Amino acid sequence: MKAIQHKKETALTNSAAWWRTAAIYQVYPRSFADGNGDGVGDVAGIRARLGHLKTLGIDAIWFSPWYSSPMADAGYDVADYRDIDPIFGTLAEVEALIGEAHDLGLRVIVDIVPNHCSDQHAWFRAAVAAGPGSPERARFHFRPGRGANGDLPPNDWQSNFGGSGWTRVPDGEYYFHMFAPEQPDLNWANPAVVEEFDDILRFWLDRGVDGFRIDVAHGLVKADGLPDISSLEPGAGKPYEDQPGVHAIYRRWRAIADEYTAADPKRERVFVGEIVGPDPEGFARYLRSDELHSAFNFDFLFCPWEPARLRTVIDETNAAHALVGAPPTWVLANHDVTRVVTRYGRLDYTGFGFDDRRHGVPSDLELGTRRARAAALLSMALPGGVYVYQGDELGLWEVEDLDDDLRQDPIWERSGHTERGRDGCRVPLPWSGDQPPFGFSGQGDTEPWLPQPTGWKDYTAEAQDGDPASMLSLYRAALAVRPEFGDAPMAWLDSAPDVLAFRRGDLISVSNLGTEPAALPAGTIVLASGPLDDGMVPSDTTVWLRA
Ligand code: NOJ
Repeated sequence: MKAIQHKKETALTNSAAWWRTAAIYQVYPRSFADGNGDGVGDVAGIRARLGHLKTLGIDAIWFSPWYSSPMADAGYDVADYRDIDPIFGTLAEVEALIGEAHDLGLRVIVDIVPNHCSDQHAWFRAAVAAGPGSPERARFHFRPGRGANGDLPPNDWQSNFGGSGWTRVPDGEYYFHMFAPEQPDLNWANPAVVEEFDDILRFWLDRGVDGFRIDVAHGLVKADGLPDISSLEPGAGKPYEDQPGVHAIYRRWRAIADEYTAADPKRERVFVGEIVGPDPEGFARYLRSDELHSAFNFDFLFCPWEPARLRTVIDETNAAHALVGAPPTWVLANHDVTRVVTRYGRLDYTGFGFDDRRHGVPSDLELGTRRARAAALLSMALPGGVYVYQGDELGLWEVEDLDDDLRQDPIWERSGHTERGRDGCRVPLPWSGDQPPFGFSGQGDTEPWLPQPTGWKDYTAEAQDGDPASMLSLYRAALAVRPEFGDAPMAWLDSAPDVLAFRRGDLISVSNLGTEPAALPAGTIVLASGPLDDGMVPSDTTVWLRA
């Protein structure tokens, strides 16, 4: 195999449209690295480990929320969008981190949570105090209850975390929350909300960020009159998802980002939306040239490791994005779903959705690892951007045997202890050494906020560094070659139905999802996710070739 040259530039001087092909790494701050030795990841820890991300070869980092928060939903309940929670550090440290990432040629994307804030946000506290009919309440969705005593919720909307979407305040009114009661939904029909978020975007753009990941981007606008779901035509969709009015918000946001880009055209400022639900045309509407730049591809994430379904998802993805000239993204995981190795190893893996974690369904981790390696190369060969969730480059598996009393995800409580939730993919990363906390807290031995499996001793970044067979080496090698795909269009090559083979420019990617070894097209092998079988591509293996 040919030695691979690292081609990346070291400053932010490459193409303005960097985001169209970027490899973006998701840092989940509480679980990445702990700099102050309290067992919770923080900004100091991230700064100390930026070298790992540089060596990995990614282009940008997306940081899950680090804002002031009571942490009812691990920071997706924001109390102050302009400050950093003390468990993570200070605003000054984040400013320094942005500069250091830029010096390494890594762009910075921050998470913005516009659908809801925390119940401890100054606005919500003021709303509760001010009472019914007040302008303070008009920034949220407050309504009187139904029924003779007003003790029934205003409508039949449910929370995505389980239970009613309405919670009552002491004076008897209810407020809507699409997620936990500690996450009241903001009212985007109120100009004060719109203006506040303009200002929050500018606050972070002024600090040099290159973009925003938009939480629940399809959710902000609610249907007029907040109608009961049961009153709508079958198939009408939820009245709090993908409402037409949401597009005006993103056009407004795009204009703000474009202002910053115009002042510094080498550094396009971008949005990536978390958009769940709409059909391909509806999805593409968010990606029109005056709205969001990109959005997560959940169809790809949710698709089982089945060749026909994957081929369809890839084709539909490319077709939907072509409607508006936007680059697709390829996403295998994030902090909300079961880790790839466990998911692909599930012996019954019919569904991968957010609500379908299949906790405890047996998983063959060896098989899952082989497939995760093949899937990593497949996702990095496809046209557009690619996302890497922290720890996937180490091949970590879902931690399914956490003590229930350690679980922090609100889903566990809200579901009445029927859904174990998302803690298992959020366990702190193992960096070095042969026992927990595996260097998570530097030299310290504080227990991390969730316990790590002792089996991770062979999966630390240190243990995998320099081992050519490790997942880390595969990711580094793949991310180093990946820029060669550039923005070349993709063309399928003739192959057996179980084989996904396509060409982009001079490079060819072949993934064998069948049980029999597959022949390789002509070319020089550049990289393979596993050993070849007598010159053939074995089952669950991806090979990259140069034609
Ligand atoms: C999506 C985020 O990814 C998830 O972690 C969070 O719980 C919900 N949005 C609510 O903010």
